[in-house]
Amino acid sequence: MRKNIVAGNWKMNNDLSQTQALIADLKQQKEAGRCEIMIAPTMPNLYNACELLRDSKIEVIGQNMHFASHGAYTGEVSASMLKGIGVNTVILGHSERRTYFNETDEMLAQKVDAALAHEMRVIFCFGEELKDRKAGNHEAVVATQIKNALFHLPERAWKHIVLAYEPVWAIGTGETATPEQAQEMHAFIRKAIENQYSAVLADNTSILYGGSVKPNNAKSIFSKPDVDGGLIGGAALQAEDFFTIVNAF
Ligand code: 13P
Repeated sequence: MRKNIVAGNWKMNNDLSQTQALIADLKQQKEAGRCEIMIAPTMPNLYNACELLRDSKIEVIGQNMHFASHGAYTGEVSASMLKGIGVNTVILGHSERRTYFNETDEMLAQKVDAALAHEMRVIFCFGEELKDRKAGNHEAVVATQIKNALFHLPERAWKHIVLAYEPVWAIGTGETATPEQAQEMHAFIRKAIENQYSAVLADNTSILYGGSVKPNNAKSIFSKPDVDGGLIGGAALQAEDFFTIVNAF
């Protein structure tokens, strides 16, 4: 059975004291227990966040990692380093990584392999740009991103994969895909997994939506049958907003 997940991607926001304050606020919130909850603070604050949330239902996850296990890669961190501080899930392939840091599908395939080799769970992001959607190529673009980075995996590896469809034109813009657009793409992705693997695997894979999910639109987006949760940017930086979204299930 696939799981419902709401994950907050803090991006490059919150220094140590802000991280501690937001976590304290998050711990005050009430949750209905209908989904898994995750937050992805910045790298320097991950260890402290793990300590502060050790006995909580909120999982601390990474925003990125390198594919190598160690070595001369200035500024990078490895899967084992994340695991070593208690981070067992990592976001890979975010469009900001693809756009600003030139991450390619091939590189992401290597990162996925490295994460899985360390028994980490991966939240794999993908999504089309506005020009792709305007040209009617959005499904082809997304299918290629998923195929290139994930379809080399054996079926058994997929229990560690969560997908996150994030149309680039909806990230941080306030413009959300309509619930119907999200549903349409999620159903398309699920069919692609079924065609490549099996109906059982397709049905068991969680597919999150990301892109301007807010307290006022989460319920309608999450109500769609193929939307299994959200990857939340801006609205994850405020505890009450984030938990309104968490409780929208
Ligand atoms: P926003 O919710 O700010 O649009 O960001 C979405 C996102 O990129 C989550 O990874």
